Amino acid sequence: MNLTLIVWRQRNSASAGEFVTYDARDISPDMSFLEMLDVVNERLTAKGEDPIAFDHDCREGICGMCGMMINGVAHGPRKATTACQLHMRSFKDGDQITIEPWRASAFPVIKDLIVDRDAFDQIIAAGGFISVSTGSAPDGNAVPIPKENAELAMDAAACIGCGACVAACPNASAMLFVSAKVTHLGSLPQGQPERYDRVVKMVARMDAEGFGACTNHGECMAACPKEISIDFIAQLNRDLLKATLAPPPEGRSWRGA
Ligand code: SF4
Ligand code: FES
Repeated sequence: MNLTLIVWRQRNSASAGEFVTYDARDISPDMSFLEMLDVVNERLTAKGEDPIAFDHDCREGICGMCGMMINGVAHGPRKATTACQLHMRSFKDGDQITIEPWRASAFPVIKDLIVDRDAFDQIIAAGGFISVSTGSAPDGNAVPIPKENAELAMDAAACIGCGACVAACPNASAMLFVSAKVTHLGSLPQGQPERYDRVVKMVARMDAEGFGACTNHGECMAACPKEISIDFIAQLNRDLLKATLAPPPEGRSWRGA
Protein backbone atom coordinates (compact mmCIF):
# COMPACT_ATOMS: atom_id res chain seq x y z
CA MET A 1 0.00 0.00 0.00
CA ASN A 2 1.09 3.54 -0.68
CA LEU A 3 -0.39 6.15 1.62
CA THR A 4 -0.17 9.86 2.31
CA LEU A 5 0.07 10.76 5.98
CA ILE A 6 -0.81 14.22 7.25
CA VAL A 7 0.68 14.24 10.73
CA TRP A 8 0.49 16.83 13.52
CA ARG A 9 4.04 17.79 14.47
CA GLN A 10 4.64 19.86 17.58
CA ARG A 11 8.04 20.19 19.19
CA ASN A 12 6.74 20.69 22.76
CA SER A 13 3.78 22.04 24.69
CA ALA A 14 5.03 25.62 24.37
CA SER A 15 5.50 25.66 20.60
CA ALA A 16 2.89 25.97 17.87
CA GLY A 17 2.26 22.79 15.93
CA GLU A 18 1.58 22.21 12.25
CA PHE A 19 0.51 19.43 9.92
CA VAL A 20 3.34 17.85 7.89
CA THR A 21 2.76 15.55 4.92
CA TYR A 22 4.69 12.29 4.52
CA ASP A 23 4.60 9.56 1.89
CA ALA A 24 4.28 6.10 3.43
CA ARG A 25 5.19 3.71 0.62
CA ASP A 26 5.22 -0.10 0.49
CA ILE A 27 3.17 -0.56 3.65
CA SER A 28 1.91 -4.08 4.31
CA PRO A 29 -1.84 -4.36 4.98
CA ASP A 30 -0.92 -6.80 7.75
CA MET A 31 0.98 -4.16 9.72
CA SER A 32 -0.69 -2.57 12.69
CA PHE A 33 -1.15 1.19 12.57
CA LEU A 34 1.73 1.62 15.04
CA GLU A 35 3.98 -0.69 12.99
CA MET A 36 3.23 1.51 9.98
CA LEU A 37 4.36 4.53 12.04
CA ASP A 38 7.47 2.57 13.09
CA VAL A 39 8.36 2.07 9.41
CA VAL A 40 7.80 5.75 8.64
CA ASN A 41 9.97 6.68 11.65
CA GLU A 42 12.80 4.36 10.59
CA ARG A 43 12.84 6.10 7.23
CA LEU A 44 12.74 9.55 8.83
CA THR A 45 15.58 8.58 11.17
CA ALA A 46 17.65 7.24 8.26
CA LYS A 47 17.26 10.65 6.58
CA GLY A 48 18.36 12.42 9.77
CA GLU A 49 14.86 13.78 10.45
CA ASP A 50 13.03 13.82 13.77
CA PRO A 51 10.77 10.72 14.09
CA ILE A 52 7.08 11.18 14.86
CA ALA A 53 6.57 10.89 18.63
CA PHE A 54 3.64 8.68 19.63
CA ASP A 55 2.71 6.88 22.84
CA HIS A 56 2.49 3.09 23.13
CA ASP A 57 3.32 0.26 25.48
CA CYS A 58 1.50 -3.08 25.31
CA ARG A 59 0.38 -2.94 21.66
CA GLU A 60 -2.28 -5.46 22.71
CA GLY A 61 -5.17 -3.12 23.46
CA ILE A 62 -4.81 -3.32 27.23
CA CYS A 63 -2.62 -0.46 28.48
CA GLY A 64 -4.44 2.55 27.01
CA MET A 65 -1.28 4.38 25.96
CA CYS A 66 -1.70 4.53 22.19
CA GLY A 67 -4.55 6.95 21.61
CA MET A 68 -4.55 9.30 18.63
CA MET A 69 -7.10 10.80 16.25
CA ILE A 70 -7.05 9.01 12.91
CA ASN A 71 -9.01 10.81 10.20
CA GLY A 72 -10.82 12.68 12.94
CA VAL A 73 -11.90 9.55 14.82
CA ALA A 74 -10.44 8.53 18.18
CA HIS A 75 -8.42 5.31 17.64
CA GLY A 76 -9.45 5.23 13.97
CA PRO A 77 -12.19 3.65 11.88
CA ARG A 78 -12.69 0.22 13.51
CA LYS A 79 -15.24 0.00 16.29
CA ALA A 80 -14.01 -1.22 19.68
CA THR A 81 -10.40 -1.23 18.51
CA THR A 82 -7.40 0.63 19.91
CA ALA A 83 -4.92 2.27 17.52
CA CYS A 84 -2.39 -0.47 18.29
CA GLN A 85 -4.88 -3.17 17.30
CA LEU A 86 -5.94 -1.38 14.12
CA HIS A 87 -4.46 -2.93 10.98
CA MET A 88 -3.59 -1.22 7.73
CA ARG A 89 -6.04 -3.48 5.88
CA SER A 90 -8.70 -1.14 7.31
CA PHE A 91 -7.42 1.42 4.79
CA LYS A 92 -7.16 1.42 0.99
CA ASP A 93 -4.14 1.82 -1.22
CA GLY A 94 -3.77 5.52 -2.04
CA ASP A 95 -5.61 6.71 1.09
CA GLN A 96 -4.77 9.98 2.77
CA ILE A 97 -4.69 9.60 6.56
CA THR A 98 -4.71 12.53 8.98
CA ILE A 99 -3.17 11.77 12.39
CA GLU A 100 -3.54 14.12 15.36
CA PRO A 101 -3.14 13.98 19.14
CA TRP A 102 -6.14 14.03 21.48
CA ARG A 103 -7.55 17.57 21.49
CA ALA A 104 -8.54 18.59 25.04
CA SER A 105 -7.15 21.36 27.24
CA ALA A 106 -6.87 18.89 30.15
CA PHE A 107 -4.54 16.77 27.95
CA PRO A 108 -1.78 19.20 26.83
CA VAL A 109 0.40 18.04 23.96
CA ILE A 110 3.86 16.93 25.11
CA LYS A 111 5.19 16.26 21.62
CA ASP A 112 3.58 15.43 18.26
CA LEU A 113 0.93 12.78 19.03
CA ILE A 114 1.76 12.39 22.73
CA VAL A 115 -0.44 14.15 25.28
CA ASP A 116 -0.04 14.44 29.03
CA ARG A 117 -2.83 12.39 30.66
CA ASP A 118 -1.70 13.15 34.20
CA ALA A 119 -5.18 14.61 34.80
CA PHE A 120 -6.54 11.04 34.72
CA ASP A 121 -3.95 9.97 37.29
CA GLN A 122 -5.01 12.86 39.53
CA ILE A 123 -8.65 11.72 39.33
CA ILE A 124 -7.65 8.17 40.26
CA ALA A 125 -5.50 9.45 43.13
CA ALA A 126 -8.52 11.41 44.42
CA GLY A 127 -10.65 8.30 44.93
CA GLY A 128 -10.03 5.42 42.53
CA PHE A 129 -8.92 2.98 45.20
CA ILE A 130 -10.14 0.91 48.13
CA SER A 131 -8.65 0.86 51.62
CA VAL A 132 -9.88 -2.51 52.94
CA SER A 133 -7.50 -5.42 52.92
CA THR A 134 -8.66 -7.88 50.29
CA GLY A 135 -6.26 -10.64 51.32
CA SER A 136 -5.04 -13.12 48.76
CA ALA A 137 -6.94 -14.58 45.79
CA PRO A 138 -8.64 -17.34 47.84
CA ASP A 139 -9.86 -14.68 50.32
CA GLY A 140 -11.37 -12.72 47.46
CA ASN A 141 -13.15 -15.79 46.16
CA ALA A 142 -14.62 -16.39 49.61
CA VAL A 143 -16.60 -13.12 49.46
CA PRO A 144 -20.05 -13.83 47.97
CA ILE A 145 -20.86 -11.34 45.21
CA PRO A 146 -24.10 -11.47 43.21
CA LYS A 147 -23.40 -12.45 39.60
CA GLU A 148 -24.93 -9.26 38.18
CA ASN A 149 -22.68 -7.13 40.43
CA ALA A 150 -19.60 -9.10 39.42
CA GLU A 151 -20.47 -8.69 35.73
CA LEU A 152 -21.17 -4.98 36.15
CA ALA A 153 -17.83 -4.50 37.89
CA MET A 154 -16.00 -6.51 35.21
CA ASP A 155 -17.61 -4.49 32.42
CA ALA A 156 -16.61 -1.23 34.09
CA ALA A 157 -13.11 -2.51 34.86
CA ALA A 158 -12.53 -2.96 31.13
CA CYS A 159 -11.72 0.78 30.91
CA ILE A 160 -8.06 1.13 29.96
CA GLY A 161 -7.79 4.86 30.68
CA CYS A 162 -6.91 5.75 27.11
CA GLY A 163 -8.75 9.09 27.02
CA ALA A 164 -10.59 8.51 23.73
CA CYS A 165 -13.87 9.38 25.47
CA VAL A 166 -12.49 12.83 26.34
CA ALA A 167 -11.10 13.37 22.85
CA ALA A 168 -14.39 12.40 21.20
CA CYS A 169 -16.62 14.47 23.48
CA PRO A 170 -17.51 17.98 22.20
CA ASN A 171 -17.20 19.14 25.84
CA ALA A 172 -13.98 17.19 26.51
CA SER A 173 -15.80 15.55 29.41
CA ALA A 174 -14.17 12.73 31.37
CA MET A 175 -17.48 11.41 32.71
CA LEU A 176 -17.29 8.05 30.95
CA PHE A 177 -13.83 7.36 32.38
CA VAL A 178 -14.80 8.48 35.89
CA SER A 179 -18.10 6.61 35.80
CA ALA A 180 -16.31 3.40 34.80
CA LYS A 181 -13.95 3.69 37.78
CA VAL A 182 -16.74 4.63 40.20
CA THR A 183 -18.99 1.79 38.99
CA HIS A 184 -16.18 -0.77 39.03
CA LEU A 185 -15.37 -0.19 42.69
CA GLY A 186 -18.89 0.76 43.81
CA SER A 187 -20.38 -2.51 42.55
CA LEU A 188 -18.25 -4.66 44.81
CA PRO A 189 -18.44 -5.15 48.58
CA GLN A 190 -14.77 -4.20 48.91
CA GLY A 191 -15.53 -0.79 47.40
CA GLN A 192 -18.40 0.14 49.72
CA PRO A 193 -16.53 1.92 52.58
CA GLU A 194 -15.47 4.81 50.31
CA ARG A 195 -18.34 4.55 47.83
CA TYR A 196 -19.88 8.02 48.32
CA ASP A 197 -16.67 9.81 49.28
CA ARG A 198 -15.15 8.37 46.13
CA VAL A 199 -17.74 9.74 43.73
CA VAL A 200 -17.68 13.22 45.32
CA LYS A 201 -13.88 13.42 45.31
CA MET A 202 -13.37 12.00 41.82
CA VAL A 203 -15.97 14.31 40.26
CA ALA A 204 -14.50 17.32 42.10
CA ARG A 205 -11.04 16.40 40.83
CA MET A 206 -12.39 15.93 37.31
CA ASP A 207 -13.83 19.45 37.40
CA ALA A 208 -10.62 20.89 38.87
CA GLU A 209 -8.54 19.30 36.10
CA GLY A 210 -10.51 21.25 33.49
CA PHE A 211 -12.66 18.55 31.90
CA GLY A 212 -16.03 19.69 30.57
CA ALA A 213 -19.51 18.69 31.68
CA CYS A 214 -21.46 15.78 30.23
CA THR A 215 -24.38 16.85 28.05
CA ASN A 216 -25.31 13.35 26.85
CA HIS A 217 -23.90 13.46 23.32
CA GLY A 218 -22.86 9.81 23.60
CA GLU A 219 -19.72 10.35 21.48
CA CYS A 220 -17.66 8.93 24.36
CA MET A 221 -19.33 5.52 24.18
CA ALA A 222 -19.08 5.45 20.37
CA ALA A 223 -15.32 6.14 20.54
CA CYS A 224 -14.50 3.87 23.48
CA PRO A 225 -12.35 0.92 22.39
CA LYS A 226 -13.68 -1.10 25.34
CA GLU A 227 -17.35 -0.23 24.69
CA ILE A 228 -17.85 1.26 28.14
CA SER A 229 -21.55 2.10 28.42
CA ILE A 230 -22.93 5.55 29.24
CA ASP A 231 -25.27 3.67 31.61
CA PHE A 232 -22.33 3.96 34.01
CA ILE A 233 -22.70 7.76 33.89
CA ALA A 234 -26.27 7.35 35.13
CA GLN A 235 -24.93 5.13 37.93
CA LEU A 236 -22.36 7.79 38.82
CA ASN A 237 -25.05 10.49 38.88
CA ARG A 238 -27.23 8.37 41.20
CA ASP A 239 -24.35 7.95 43.66
CA LEU A 240 -23.39 11.63 43.37
CA LEU A 241 -26.98 12.70 44.08
CA LYS A 242 -27.18 10.45 47.10
CA ALA A 243 -23.85 11.76 48.42
CA THR A 244 -24.75 15.42 47.93
CA LEU A 245 -28.49 15.45 48.76
CA ALA A 246 -28.14 13.31 51.86
CA PRO A 247 -24.62 14.11 53.05
CA PRO A 248 -23.24 12.48 56.19
CA PRO A 249 -23.48 14.40 59.51
CA GLU A 250 -21.17 17.39 59.82
CA GLY A 251 -17.64 16.46 60.75
CA ARG A 252 -18.04 12.96 59.38
CA SER A 253 -17.32 11.71 55.91
CA TRP A 254 -19.33 9.09 54.07
CA ARG A 255 -16.50 6.77 54.79
CA GLY A 256 -17.18 6.89 58.50
CA ALA A 257 -20.93 7.30 58.23
S1 SF4 B 1 -14.01 4.91 29.11
FE1 SF4 B 1 -13.27 3.96 27.17
S2 SF4 B 1 -12.47 5.68 25.97
FE2 SF4 B 1 -12.65 6.41 28.09
S3 SF4 B 1 -10.64 6.06 29.03
FE3 SF4 B 1 -11.89 4.21 29.46
S4 SF4 B 1 -11.43 2.81 27.77
FE4 SF4 B 1 -10.70 4.82 27.09
S1 FES C 1 -0.34 0.29 23.15
FE1 FES C 1 -1.44 -0.53 24.87
S2 FES C 1 -3.53 -0.24 24.34
FE2 FES C 1 -2.45 0.37 22.55
